[in-house]
Amino acid sequence: MSYSSDDYNAAVEMIRSRTKAQPTIGLVLGSGLGTLADTLEARDVIPYSDIPGWPRSTVHGHSGQLVIGELEGQTVVAQQGRAHFYEGYTPQQVTFPIRVMYKLGARSVILTNAAGGLNPAYKVGDLMLLNDHINFVGMSGNNPLMGPNDDSFGPRFLGMSQTYDRELRQQALHVADDAGVTLHEGVYVCLSGPTFETPAEVRMLRTLGADAVGMSTVHEVLVARHAGMRVMACSGITNVAIDQIDTTQDANHEEVLDAGKVLVPRLTAVLRGILRSWQA
Ligand code: HPA
Repeated sequence: MSYSSDDYNAAVEMIRSRTKAQPTIGLVLGSGLGTLADTLEARDVIPYSDIPGWPRSTVHGHSGQLVIGELEGQTVVAQQGRAHFYEGYTPQQVTFPIRVMYKLGARSVILTNAAGGLNPAYKVGDLMLLNDHINFVGMSGNNPLMGPNDDSFGPRFLGMSQTYDRELRQQALHVADDAGVTLHEGVYVCLSGPTFETPAEVRMLRTLGADAVGMSTVHEVLVARHAGMRVMACSGITNVAIDQIDTTQDANHEEVLDAGKVLVPRLTAVLRGILRSWQA
C-alpha cells in the first residue's frame, strides 16, 4: 500500500489544529526511552489515536503519543514510542510519521532505539551512535521506498554512503566526552524480529561487521534521507547478544526496558547537548 499526499496532509492538518509550534527537528524515542519527551517545555501532546493514518505501537514501553515543544531552545516534534514492522505494519506504515514530521517542517531527525550489543567491547548501558547500517529487512524485499516513487519527497534511487550526518556525529562525540558518557560509533543491523537472534545468528552478524542489532530505525532512516533530512541515530545497548547455546540466559523484553532506565539520563545528556549547540 502507498499513501497519497491527502493522507499526509490530513495528519499534518490535524496536528496543526492542536499546536501552534513549528518544529524543525524530529525525535523518535524507542523502547524504554520515551520519558525524555515529558521534559519538553511548552508542550502540546497528541495521542497517536487522534491522528489520521498514524500507526500505533502495541508494545509495552511505547506510550504512543506525539509531543511537540521546546528542548534546549529548539522546537522539536517527538514520537514517544513507534510502530514496528514485527507488529504487522508495512514498512510504509512504519515510516508514515517521518513524512508527516517532514511536512510539519522538520528537516532533521534524531532517532533512538534499544539494541543488543554484538561488539564484545559493548556493555549494557552504553550508547552507540550509528555510522552505518545493514538492512536485512530491506534486502529481503521490505524496503519502505519500494512501490511508486513519490517524487515530491525525493528520487527513485537513493545513494546511501552519506546517511548518518558526519557533523552531527562529531558533535555527539564531543558532547558525550564532556558529559563523561560512553558513546561508541558502529554499524547497526536491522532484523525484523520479534524473535531475538539465535546464537548462530549472533555470530554471523558479528562476522558481517555489525556492532549492534535491533528491530527498528533503519526504515525510518531511509525515508528521512529520501526527503533529504539530516539524520542522527543512537542505540542504547540494553543487553549483550548471547552467542553460545545452552547457557542459562536468554534475551527478554524486561531487560530491555530495565536498561532503558539507566540509558535515559545518558541519552538525555547527549541529545540535550546536541540541541544546545544546534546549527541548522
Ligand atoms: N536483538 C534485537 N533487538 C533488540 C535486542 C536484541 O538483542 N535488544 C533490544 N532490541
